[in-house]
Formats: sequence, C-alpha cells, structure tokens
Amino acid sequence: MNHKGHFMLTHAITADSGLEFAAEVRAGLTKAGQKELPSKYLYDDVGSALFEVISVLPQYGLTRADERLLRRHASEIVEQVPGPVAVAELGSGSGKKTRWLLKALCRRQHVSYFPIEISPTALAMCERELGDIDFMSIVGFEREYLDGLVEVAARRREGQNLLVLFLGSTIGNFDRPAAAKFLREVRQILQPKDSLLLGTDLEKPIPQLLAAYDDPLGVTAAFDLNLLARINRELDADFVLEQFEHLARFNPEARSVEMHLRSRRRQSVSIPRAEMTVAFSEGETIWTESSHKYCPEEMSRIASDAGFFCKAQWIDQEWPFAENLFVAE
Ligand code: TRP
Repeated sequence: MNHKGHFMLTHAITADSGLEFAAEVRAGLTKAGQKELPSKYLYDDVGSALFEVISVLPQYGLTRADERLLRRHASEIVEQVPGPVAVAELGSGSGKKTRWLLKALCRRQHVSYFPIEISPTALAMCERELGDIDFMSIVGFEREYLDGLVEVAARRREGQNLLVLFLGSTIGNFDRPAAAKFLREVRQILQPKDSLLLGTDLEKPIPQLLAAYDDPLGVTAAFDLNLLARINRELDADFVLEQFEHLARFNPEARSVEMHLRSRRRQSVSIPRAEMTVAFSEGETIWTESSHKYCPEEMSRIASDAGFFCKAQWIDQEWPFAENLFVAE
C-alpha cells in the first residue's frame, strides 16, 4: 500500500516463452504467399518505447483523439456505465489516457482497476502512472487479453458489473471477421449489464492515413523494423536491417492501412532458434500489421452481432475517432 490508494502488483509469469515466439516466427515466414509476422511482437521494451513516441507525432492523431475524448467526456461516459463497476483494461499501454475515466469513476465509488497487458514494461509504466489515484486499487495482469479477462471476471464481487476498456483502436488491428469473433469472445466472458468501451479509429482521407503510418521522422519505420531487430536479438537471426524498408499502404477493400517490411533485394536470412533459413526476393514483403478504419454508423451492427447494444458514442472532430459504449444484453 502506498501513501494514497491501495497499490498492488501481481505480475503473473507469462506463458509466452521464447519457444512460442520462435514457433510463430517460423509459421509466419514459411507461409505460402504473403509472409507475415504477428504484430503483438512489435511491443517489446524498444517497441513499446517507440510506440510512445509515435503517439506524440503530429501525423499520428489517433492517441491524442482518444485521450481528448476520454478527458472531455469522462463524466458523461461514466454516467452511462451501469455501476458499480470493476474496470478491466485490455492492453493498458502506459495508462495515461485511462486516468480521466478512472478519476471520474472514483468520484462515485472505490474502483478496482485491472490492467491486462503482455508488455511488462508498459504494465510497470501504467502502474507508476496511475498508482497515485485516490480510492483506487490496481492489480496488473501480464497476460493475453482474453486469459486476463477470464481471471478478472473471476474476481468480481457480488452485484459488481465489469467495465472493459479496449481503447486506442487496437480492435482495428484485427481483420473484420476476427474483430467480430473477438467481441463475441469478450461478450461470453461478460454478464448482462457489463459494458465495453471500445475505441475505433474512423475513416479519413488516404494521404492523412498514410502519413500517420509512415511519418517523415521514421519513427514508425523504426517501430516496424524493430521486429526484425528483436528476432535478431532473441532468436539469433541475421537480418540486415538496412536491407529492409517500412511500407504503409491503404487496402480499399479491407478499409485498412497495411504495414509491411519490404526486402530491398534478393537475400536469405538465417534464424537459428527458429531452425530455419528464409529467402526473400527483391521487393517481397513481410506483412506486420493492419489498422482497420470504421465508420460511426457501423458500430451498432457490430455491437449487436456480438451480443451488445451500442448505448452511446462520442466522436472527436479534430481527428475522426469514436469511443463506443457497448452494454452486454
Ligand atoms: N494500434 C496502432 C494502430 O493501428 C498500432 C500502430 C501504429 C502500428 N503505428 C503502427 C503498428 C505502425 C505497426 C506499424 O494505429
């Protein structure tokens, strides 16, 4: 317990070992057709720090829009949430933008806040950032989203609803069918009257989107390339980073920005701990992440397809972005 609120850390050991990383790298790079790497591995210590920088770049308005909405509308949002609640956040990141919401909630009740985060660095940052809020206890879970949510749900008290936060448009990193499936899975862990505050980045002009994912300082490129550097560090691979470049392109069918790492020439790379060598042709890409964009009107259907109803929506005008409040039916 610190001098203000209750403060507690239970960093459960992750199931995510080097073996799993090696297996997923191997599966993604031996895939027929488009090679790919799972985007969750972008967020090691270096990646998480670079993402913090991305979130303050002038071209990347997403995080600031999310923060603005949560700051401006915190009390309105909290009023719409059926309470009393315990709060679970999927992918807390540094926790900075969650502060306003938690403070607004703490005005009406004591709050238990459970950040669920695979990056231990981000989790530690979040606990440091939010540890000073009065009338709030924090218990962090170093877990994948759904595993963490199951554990949090098991800790709920009688008569307590859960408010799940999934901010920053991380849902956009799933393709549409996977997003629908994920929301159904979240709903299955929840009970009626539990709620989900879902952040979604909205469609905007393509040049603006591309600049957000390929900034002139090269921070996003560094963030993306760090995935190869991480494979070098953790799996003893010999990727020459200069021989790859970051690429962002808009996919109009999927309504997503796709991030790729493109091989500048024909080359082969050995990855001893994944027991493989991988060949690249000139211009061939590894797909690392997609960020899907939504329109405000489609959120009600997305909610009802997953067993929620969309009770309210707040939209930022400066950088079109929506906070959607889904309540479990
Ligand atoms: N969730 C963020 C987004 O889709 C992640 C992100 C921002 C990202 N910039 C990136 C992922 C560049 C890969 C490459 O907006």
